[in-house]
Amino acid sequence: MATYDTIVRGGRIVTASEVYQADLAIKDGVVAAIGYDLGDSAEVVDAKDMLVLPGGVDTHVHLDQTGLGPEMCDGFDSGTASAAAGGTTTVVCFVWQPKGGSLAQVAADYRVKAEKARVDYSFHLTVTDPTPEVLEVELPQLIAEGCRSVKVFMTYDGVRLDDREVLRVLAAARRNQALVCVHAENHDLIAWLTEQLVSAGLTTPKYHAYAKPMIAEREAVSRIIALAEALDVPIQIFHVSGAQSAEEIARAQARGLKVWGETCVHYLTLTADDLDRPGFEGAKFIFGPPARTEADQEALWGYLKRGVIEVISSDHSPTRFDDPKGKKFAGDPAPFNKVPNGIPGLAARLPVLFTEGVSKGRIDLPTFVRLTSTNPAKLFGLFPQKGCLAVGSDADFILWDPQKTVTLTNALMHHGGDYTPYEGYQTQGYPVATFLRGQQVFDGSAVVGAAGGGRFIARPPYPMITPLQRFPTPFNAVHATLI
Ligand code: URP
Ligand code: ZN
Ligand code: ZN
Ligand code: ZN
Repeated sequence: MATYDTIVRGGRIVTASEVYQADLAIKDGVVAAIGYDLGDSAEVVDAKDMLVLPGGVDTHVHLDQTGLGPEMCDGFDSGTASAAAGGTTTVVCFVWQPKGGSLAQVAADYRVKAEKARVDYSFHLTVTDPTPEVLEVELPQLIAEGCRSVKVFMTYDGVRLDDREVLRVLAAARRNQALVCVHAENHDLIAWLTEQLVSAGLTTPKYHAYAKPMIAEREAVSRIIALAEALDVPIQIFHVSGAQSAEEIARAQARGLKVWGETCVHYLTLTADDLDRPGFEGAKFIFGPPARTEADQEALWGYLKRGVIEVISSDHSPTRFDDPKGKKFAGDPAPFNKVPNGIPGLAARLPVLFTEGVSKGRIDLPTFVRLTSTNPAKLFGLFPQKGCLAVGSDADFILWDPQKTVTLTNALMHHGGDYTPYEGYQTQGYPVATFLRGQQVFDGSAVVGAAGGGRFIARPPYPMITPLQRFPTPFNAVHATLI
């Protein structure tokens, strides 16, 4: 019998810190050896002229989720097909508590829905109603079961929490060792601006960006940082859209706070001008916070290079465009404030970022791997099973052709949507094969991984919560007893 199941031969392996020529041997779904002349294997994968990258880890993915209005066009089946087609082998999705409802019940239902996944997955816990039952009973139980990240919204009717509710969640996260992820925008400023715009008849998609200006985001980022600092709880700010929010995060980090930043490919590639495309086309670019300016894009690249923002995710949140169940569910055209927020992005994340980042010389290969795989895996407790190619890690990898040019179309996204915001975009660099635990799930044109081939990944409690430091002395001891 052969020593290994598979040897990936002749490629250049990219890790979070190096690029080097070596072969990769796989046995029972994990990396068994890395080096030269590794011996015999049942199968050989030719990786000549290819990069061998750890599978993408996308820690911000909405699939089969109710809670924000119209129907999502991706469940775990099509959504994870899209992931595989874009080189992503692990997604973290959202258990979404309905207002007044149970988080635990949704988690149980979500586990069943996720059984159709084609890549591995884990869950964040979105708290929309922090009742004693949820905070004292359900959250500790779910975190213990492997879901150690909590999501809160500071805006959107029906899901947002006020500051006191946010504090309750932060305290519960501290008690139970969870990382809190935050959608940070000032709800009342957005609500007031929306009222003004709508009553002035300014309702086309472009006014989405006027209703959700940078200052609404910057204020909320600054406020959540203060609340998290008060309780000494680590947070990740989701979807940082531009310079001002990133600057708040940089300042918090300089003070020694555990405040992490995530951005998405669309903030590096799209601008508010895309909302102003003719007709209702701009609705294809409605997501929150909105895309900003080219100056914001350049600033974000700088914050990425300096490590202030350390994760790039997709925020895949797809609704169909030409569909009364999707972007047109409130009419065609509907006023911007009735159009569901969110765009598809799972399959495009790595090819577009590679093109903009690596091929255009803005970031190097290890930085690409850190931002899209290693850092999210570390921050969310998936590392070293995921996010790296090392002996003992899951054999999740991409054969990546750095020269391959592809013109993106909706069909290449392999999702349930009827559009991609990147239609016609020319990539340089593309995945030619994706492997999950040693099994091929994408062959360069077709998704070949079976629905149900993905597994739930339980994540251990977040270890970076230390004894309370942040309340001003001499009150520390008293405050600590309150949490
Ligand atoms: O527009 C967006 N981002 N929709 C998805 C929900 C969220 O805010 O992450
Ligand atoms: Zn959000
Ligand atoms: Zn999201
Ligand atoms: Zn397909």
